[in-house]
Amino acid sequence: MGFSTDAIHAGQPPDPSTGAIITPIFQTTTYYQEELGKDKGYVYSRSANPTRTALEKNIAVLEKGKYGLAFSSGMAAIHTVSKLLKAGDHAVVSNDVYGGTYRLFQKVMNDYGLEFTFIDMTDLQNLKEAIKPNTRLVHLESPTNPLLTITDIPGAVEICKAKNIIVSVDNTFMSPYFQNPLLLGVDLVIHSSTKYLGGHSDVIGGMIVTSSEELYERMKFIQNSIGAVPSPFDSWLLLRSTKTLAVRMERHNYNAFEIAKFLQSNISGENRANAKYRIKNIKRVIYPGLENYPQHEIAKKQMTGFGGMVSFEVENFERAKDVLHKFKLFTLAESLGGVESLVCHPATMTHASIPKEEREKNGLTDGIIRLSVGIEDVFDLIDDIKQALA
Ligand SMILES: Cc1ncc(COP(=O)(O)O)c(C=O)c1O
Repeated sequence: MGFSTDAIHAGQPPDPSTGAIITPIFQTTTYYQEELGKDKGYVYSRSANPTRTALEKNIAVLEKGKYGLAFSSGMAAIHTVSKLLKAGDHAVVSNDVYGGTYRLFQKVMNDYGLEFTFIDMTDLQNLKEAIKPNTRLVHLESPTNPLLTITDIPGAVEICKAKNIIVSVDNTFMSPYFQNPLLLGVDLVIHSSTKYLGGHSDVIGGMIVTSSEELYERMKFIQNSIGAVPSPFDSWLLLRSTKTLAVRMERHNYNAFEIAKFLQSNISGENRANAKYRIKNIKRVIYPGLENYPQHEIAKKQMTGFGGMVSFEVENFERAKDVLHKFKLFTLAESLGGVESLVCHPATMTHASIPKEEREKNGLTDGIIRLSVGIEDVFDLIDDIKQALA
């Protein structure tokens, strides 16, 4: 089946008891047992709930995996992955992961005897050098948040497979529509479904998909033990959302690409003479679809689109603050992936938990502004950018 057909139907046959086309919200905590040990597959909603089951089946199909697990947030999903490790184990992580992931690993899980090494994953030599005898997990984001750096995923998998290391990829920025890491050989795909999967800025959620029965069984056990599961209503909201994922992603991608080209044409020397608008003080535009983007070729190999996130850099914090406050249509807010356009200042917002020195070493300066490009009319969005940057 095609992606959109799967998105609309996978895991969601008409409800057998009523014929309802839309999977009901099974707002129940517990289930009738005819006699001891005789149930219909559901006993308590922390362990399993039919609305959540539909969502887990749906996302598994979209990510081309066998098993899906839904969580109450993206961080709960990432926490579950880190619980695959035991005290004394080591993990290698991209150095520009989402700030909350860095915080969980470095400031929480570290206290439980786990060790994390953060590396620039764009050079796989760094990965080879960072792996130790006790390395059990390599966790990466590709593209990363907010610098959109890309890891050669099959290359990383090759290095890890030889050493029996689990590879997990946070695929939040691409969504399963533009990238399927399981097809590139990874073991686990993670989503903050708060973002594109949800798409309407009205639900916090997380997902893990795998094709390994062993990893699934372990994570399902952890999911039930920790209990960070989504409510039936949140599961239902996500089921509603994945139905439109394909059309939303196409539009996010189109709008973001237009904006990236617009910004780029105003800073590159050759285009500047012909540029329609004068934009002051942009140092660089970051979007994997641009031909001058350093990892454009890798992006084209492993992604089928470039997504809806565009970052750019202005001179310094003062200029960034000035620009951020001038936006009218782009709303100053955390998060991303919704139908409405948002703007954020990663250094003081989403990535504030990463020490300044660490951030700047990785290129995340105080001048970086991140746009989550929504699905509004792109000419309105460009008009807003023009006036904010003028
Ligand atoms: C790439 C990425 N992964 C994970 C998370 C965490 O997800 P959540 O906020 O749903 O816990 C975020 C949140 O911004 C994110 O951007």
